[in-house]
Amino acid sequence: MDIFEAMETCRAMRKLKADPVPQELLEKLIWAATRAPNAGNAQLWNFLVVTEDEGRQFLGDLLRSKLGTGLAQPKDNATPQARQAHAFWQLVTAFEKVPAIIFTCVKNEYPPVEPNPLFMSSTIYPATQNLLLAARSLGLGTVMTTFHIVDTEAIKEHFGIPSDVFIGATIPIGYPEGSFGPVTRKPIEEVTHWEHWQQSEKT
Ligand SMILES: Cc1cc2nc3c(=O)[nH]c(=O)nc-3n(C[C@H](O)[C@H](O)[C@H](O)COP(=O)(O)O)c2cc1C
Repeated sequence: MDIFEAMETCRAMRKLKADPVPQELLEKLIWAATRAPNAGNAQLWNFLVVTEDEGRQFLGDLLRSKLGTGLAQPKDNATPQARQAHAFWQLVTAFEKVPAIIFTCVKNEYPPVEPNPLFMSSTIYPATQNLLLAARSLGLGTVMTTFHIVDTEAIKEHFGIPSDVFIGATIPIGYPEGSFGPVTRKPIEEVTHWEHWQQSEKT
Protein backbone atom coordinates (compact mmCIF):
# COMPACT_ATOMS: atom_id res chain seq x y z
CA MET A 1 0.00 0.00 0.00
CA ASP A 2 1.15 3.51 -0.83
CA ILE A 3 2.36 5.31 2.32
CA PHE A 4 0.12 8.33 1.69
CA GLU A 5 -2.94 6.14 1.31
CA ALA A 6 -2.05 4.41 4.57
CA MET A 7 -1.80 7.77 6.36
CA GLU A 8 -5.05 9.01 4.86
CA THR A 9 -6.99 5.92 5.94
CA CYS A 10 -5.31 5.05 9.25
CA ARG A 11 -8.40 5.80 11.31
CA ALA A 12 -8.85 4.75 14.91
CA MET A 13 -10.44 1.31 14.55
CA ARG A 14 -12.18 0.38 17.79
CA LYS A 15 -14.52 -2.31 16.45
CA LEU A 16 -12.30 -5.34 16.01
CA LYS A 17 -13.08 -8.95 15.21
CA ALA A 18 -12.07 -11.61 17.70
CA ASP A 19 -10.17 -13.61 15.03
CA PRO A 20 -6.55 -14.15 16.05
CA VAL A 21 -3.81 -12.14 14.40
CA PRO A 22 -0.95 -14.37 13.19
CA GLN A 23 2.24 -13.99 15.21
CA GLU A 24 4.15 -13.32 12.00
CA LEU A 25 2.08 -10.16 11.44
CA LEU A 26 2.55 -8.99 15.02
CA GLU A 27 6.29 -9.42 14.55
CA LYS A 28 6.07 -7.39 11.37
CA LEU A 29 4.43 -4.56 13.32
CA ILE A 30 7.26 -4.59 15.83
CA TRP A 31 9.75 -4.67 13.01
CA ALA A 32 8.13 -1.53 11.60
CA ALA A 33 8.10 0.14 15.02
CA THR A 34 11.79 -0.53 15.46
CA ARG A 35 12.64 1.17 12.13
CA ALA A 36 11.63 4.51 13.65
CA PRO A 37 13.97 7.37 14.47
CA ASN A 38 14.93 7.47 18.13
CA ALA A 39 17.14 9.48 20.44
CA GLY A 40 20.81 8.76 19.79
CA ASN A 41 19.80 5.46 18.15
CA ALA A 42 19.83 4.10 21.69
CA GLN A 43 16.71 2.04 20.82
CA LEU A 44 15.44 2.02 24.36
CA TRP A 45 12.06 0.64 23.34
CA ASN A 46 10.42 -2.64 24.28
CA PHE A 47 7.10 -4.11 23.16
CA LEU A 48 4.91 -6.28 25.33
CA VAL A 49 2.51 -8.38 23.24
CA VAL A 50 -0.55 -9.84 24.95
CA THR A 51 -2.48 -12.54 23.06
CA GLU A 52 -3.28 -15.18 25.67
CA ASP A 53 -6.74 -15.37 27.26
CA GLU A 54 -5.50 -14.75 30.79
CA GLY A 55 -3.78 -11.46 29.99
CA ARG A 56 -6.63 -10.18 27.82
CA GLN A 57 -9.16 -11.08 30.51
CA PHE A 58 -7.09 -9.24 33.11
CA LEU A 59 -7.08 -6.12 30.95
CA GLY A 60 -10.81 -6.36 30.25
CA ASP A 61 -11.62 -6.70 33.94
CA LEU A 62 -9.27 -3.87 34.87
CA LEU A 63 -10.74 -1.45 32.33
CA ARG A 64 -14.29 -2.22 33.35
CA SER A 65 -13.53 -1.90 37.05
CA LYS A 66 -11.61 1.37 36.68
CA LEU A 67 -13.86 3.09 34.15
CA GLY A 68 -17.00 1.95 35.98
CA THR A 69 -19.91 4.29 35.52
CA GLY A 70 -18.12 6.11 32.73
CA LEU A 71 -19.11 3.13 30.62
CA ALA A 72 -22.80 3.86 30.12
CA GLN A 73 -23.80 2.74 26.63
CA PRO A 74 -24.30 5.74 24.30
CA LYS A 75 -27.94 6.00 23.29
CA ASP A 76 -27.64 6.80 19.61
CA ASN A 77 -25.31 6.70 16.64
CA ALA A 78 -26.49 9.94 15.04
CA THR A 79 -23.30 12.03 15.03
CA PRO A 80 -19.61 11.23 14.49
CA GLN A 81 -19.05 11.92 18.21
CA ALA A 82 -21.82 9.51 19.18
CA ARG A 83 -20.45 6.86 16.83
CA GLN A 84 -16.98 7.31 18.33
CA ALA A 85 -18.42 7.06 21.84
CA HIS A 86 -20.26 3.91 20.86
CA ALA A 87 -17.16 2.32 19.35
CA PHE A 88 -15.20 3.29 22.47
CA TRP A 89 -17.87 1.69 24.64
CA GLN A 90 -17.87 -1.49 22.55
CA LEU A 91 -14.08 -1.76 22.72
CA VAL A 92 -13.77 -1.14 26.44
CA THR A 93 -16.69 -3.26 27.61
CA ALA A 94 -15.41 -6.34 25.78
CA PHE A 95 -11.69 -5.66 25.79
CA GLU A 96 -10.82 -9.32 26.41
CA LYS A 97 -12.15 -10.08 22.92
CA VAL A 98 -9.42 -7.99 21.29
CA PRO A 99 -7.10 -10.64 19.85
CA ALA A 100 -3.81 -8.82 20.46
CA ILE A 101 -2.68 -5.86 22.52
CA ILE A 102 0.76 -4.31 22.25
CA PHE A 103 2.14 -2.04 24.95
CA THR A 104 4.82 0.19 23.48
CA CYS A 105 7.37 0.82 26.20
CA VAL A 106 10.60 2.73 26.70
CA LYS A 107 13.29 3.27 29.32
CA ASN A 108 14.56 6.57 30.71
CA GLU A 109 18.21 6.01 29.78
CA TYR A 110 19.00 8.78 27.31
CA PRO A 111 21.34 10.57 27.36
CA PRO A 112 23.33 7.97 29.31
CA VAL A 113 24.64 10.69 31.61
CA GLU A 114 21.68 12.47 33.25
CA PRO A 115 18.80 10.84 31.34
CA ASN A 116 16.01 13.26 30.38
CA PRO A 117 12.44 11.84 30.41
CA LEU A 118 11.64 14.02 27.38
CA PHE A 119 13.49 11.50 25.24
CA MET A 120 11.18 8.69 26.28
CA SER A 121 8.09 10.09 24.57
CA SER A 122 10.07 11.47 21.65
CA THR A 123 11.40 7.94 21.13
CA ILE A 124 8.32 5.81 21.70
CA TYR A 125 5.72 7.78 19.76
CA PRO A 126 7.43 7.72 16.34
CA ALA A 127 7.81 3.96 16.85
CA THR A 128 4.15 3.69 17.82
CA GLN A 129 3.07 5.60 14.71
CA ASN A 130 5.21 3.32 12.52
CA LEU A 131 3.41 0.38 14.09
CA LEU A 132 -0.03 1.91 13.41
CA LEU A 133 0.79 2.61 9.78
CA ALA A 134 2.25 -0.85 9.26
CA ALA A 135 -0.92 -2.35 10.71
CA ARG A 136 -3.01 -0.28 8.32
CA SER A 137 -0.98 -1.48 5.36
CA LEU A 138 -1.53 -5.09 6.48
CA GLY A 139 -5.29 -4.57 6.78
CA LEU A 140 -5.21 -4.69 10.58
CA GLY A 141 -7.24 -2.27 12.67
CA THR A 142 -5.62 -0.47 15.57
CA VAL A 143 -6.21 2.49 17.81
CA MET A 144 -3.60 4.43 19.69
CA THR A 145 -4.78 4.52 23.31
CA THR A 146 -3.59 5.48 26.75
CA PHE A 147 -5.80 2.90 28.46
CA HIS A 148 -2.90 1.83 30.67
CA ILE A 149 -3.18 5.03 32.68
CA VAL A 150 -6.28 3.66 34.39
CA ASP A 151 -3.86 1.67 36.57
CA THR A 152 -0.31 1.55 35.24
CA GLU A 153 1.01 -0.04 38.42
CA ALA A 154 -1.44 -2.95 38.25
CA ILE A 155 -0.56 -3.56 34.59
CA LYS A 156 3.17 -3.46 35.31
CA GLU A 157 2.79 -5.85 38.21
CA HIS A 158 0.58 -8.27 36.29
CA PHE A 159 2.82 -8.49 33.23
CA GLY A 160 6.15 -8.13 35.04
CA ILE A 161 7.04 -4.79 33.45
CA PRO A 162 9.87 -3.23 35.47
CA SER A 163 8.80 -0.18 37.48
CA ASP A 164 11.28 2.11 35.70
CA VAL A 165 9.80 1.35 32.26
CA PHE A 166 7.43 3.95 30.78
CA ILE A 167 4.39 2.64 28.91
CA GLY A 168 3.79 4.96 25.96
CA ALA A 169 0.69 3.41 24.43
CA THR A 170 -1.74 0.52 24.63
CA ILE A 171 -2.58 -0.63 21.12
CA PRO A 172 -5.51 -3.00 20.56
CA ILE A 173 -5.00 -4.89 17.28
CA GLY A 174 -7.36 -7.02 15.21
CA TYR A 175 -9.08 -7.37 11.90
CA PRO A 176 -11.58 -4.52 11.62
CA GLU A 177 -15.33 -5.06 11.71
CA GLY A 178 -15.90 -1.96 9.60
CA SER A 179 -14.02 -0.50 6.70
CA PHE A 180 -11.07 1.85 6.72
CA GLY A 181 -12.02 5.35 5.71
CA PRO A 182 -10.35 8.72 5.39
CA VAL A 183 -9.44 10.60 8.57
CA THR A 184 -10.99 14.02 9.19
CA ARG A 185 -8.29 16.61 9.66
CA LYS A 186 -7.87 20.36 9.23
CA PRO A 187 -6.61 21.49 5.82
CA ILE A 188 -2.89 22.21 5.86
CA GLU A 189 -3.53 25.90 5.04
CA GLU A 190 -5.05 26.24 8.50
CA VAL A 191 -2.03 24.91 10.32
CA THR A 192 0.94 25.93 8.17
CA HIS A 193 2.97 29.12 8.56
CA TRP A 194 5.43 30.02 5.80
CA GLU A 195 8.48 31.91 7.02
CA HIS A 196 6.59 33.83 9.76
CA TRP A 197 3.78 32.85 12.09
CA GLN A 198 0.57 34.32 10.68
CA GLN A 199 -1.89 35.10 13.41
CA SER A 200 -5.46 34.30 12.48
CA GLU A 201 -8.68 33.37 14.23
CA LYS A 202 -7.89 29.73 13.60
CA THR A 203 -4.33 29.60 14.97
C1 LIG B 1 -2.08 10.64 22.69
C2 LIG B 1 -3.34 9.93 22.23
C3 LIG B 1 -4.13 9.29 23.17
C4 LIG B 1 -5.27 8.61 22.75
N1 LIG B 1 -5.99 7.92 23.68
C5 LIG B 1 -7.07 7.22 23.29
C6 LIG B 1 -7.76 6.40 24.23
O1 LIG B 1 -7.37 6.30 25.40
N2 LIG B 1 -8.84 5.71 23.80
C7 LIG B 1 -9.26 5.76 22.50
O2 LIG B 1 -10.24 5.10 22.16
N3 LIG B 1 -8.60 6.52 21.56
C8 LIG B 1 -7.53 7.23 21.93
N4 LIG B 1 -6.82 7.97 21.01
C9 LIG B 1 -7.26 7.99 19.60
C10 LIG B 1 -7.90 9.33 19.24
O3 LIG B 1 -9.16 9.42 19.86
C11 LIG B 1 -8.01 9.43 17.72
O4 LIG B 1 -6.73 9.38 17.14
C12 LIG B 1 -8.67 10.73 17.29
O5 LIG B 1 -9.97 10.82 17.80
C13 LIG B 1 -8.74 10.83 15.76
O6 LIG B 1 -9.52 9.75 15.29
P1 LIG B 1 -9.31 9.19 13.81
O7 LIG B 1 -7.86 8.86 13.70
O8 LIG B 1 -10.22 8.01 13.68
O9 LIG B 1 -9.67 10.29 12.88
C14 LIG B 1 -5.65 8.62 21.39
C15 LIG B 1 -4.83 9.26 20.44
C16 LIG B 1 -3.67 9.89 20.86
C17 LIG B 1 -2.76 10.51 19.83
